[in-house]
Amino acid sequence: MWMRVVVSIGGSVLIEEMNPDRIKSYASVLREAAVSNEIFVVVGGGETARRYINVGRALGANEAICDRIGIDITRLNAYLLILALGDAAYPEVVRNYQDAPLAGGSGIVVMGGVSPGYTTDAVSAILAEYIGADLLINATSVDGVYSSDPKLDPASRRYERITAKELVEIVIGTRLDAGSTSVIDPVGAKVIERSGIRTIVLDGRNPLNILKAIKGEKIGTEIVSESV
Ligand code: UTP
Repeated sequence: MWMRVVVSIGGSVLIEEMNPDRIKSYASVLREAAVSNEIFVVVGGGETARRYINVGRALGANEAICDRIGIDITRLNAYLLILALGDAAYPEVVRNYQDAPLAGGSGIVVMGGVSPGYTTDAVSAILAEYIGADLLINATSVDGVYSSDPKLDPASRRYERITAKELVEIVIGTRLDAGSTSVIDPVGAKVIERSGIRTIVLDGRNPLNILKAIKGEKIGTEIVSESV
């Protein structure tokens, strides 16, 4: 079945090692997905963004300016993915929501950040709502949504399926400082809740997981609008 899909790929999984072969492996998966689906991609900033943000903050930048630094890094990362996608991609990083559906006719659309106050988790959720996507995939460096941070809490458990309302309850206390991390940022979680968009959070360290989710295989954590 043809679907319109937004794939959010964390900078931490796509770019971290600055390895062109790794970026190519994501490009090849996205090209394959685009044969029978319309694909929009949002790329994160990862550790590079956090390093730039920390230096900016140490130089006196406020959080909005640090966010702006983060956005610039996400867009650079997005551009590297465009290079790897070659003629399968719209050739420029799309900078706002309204241009995304217009660019969609010319190939895979790749975005980075858009505006201060949230992360690319929220960008991908807003984009998915804006273009009426059938599915939002968040490919990140953990294998799903946990009841608490699994790196800090050994008793934490992974959900196979949760409601958007439950997701909001888990992440709502997360700080929104530039460069802060949570599985999905609170703005993104609220947008997923209001839009009711079907969302899958999965381990993006293996790019093939993105294809599995598009093909309907059970993977990661599925976020649904109502409990069933
Ligand atoms: P990311 O989306 O990469 O944050 O944005 P992240 O959740 O840490 O993602 P990954 O998975 O590790 O890549 C990096 C920073 O850029 C700013 C924020 O400061 C964010 O923390 N940003 C990004 C914005 O302010 N607005 C945006 O639209 C996107």
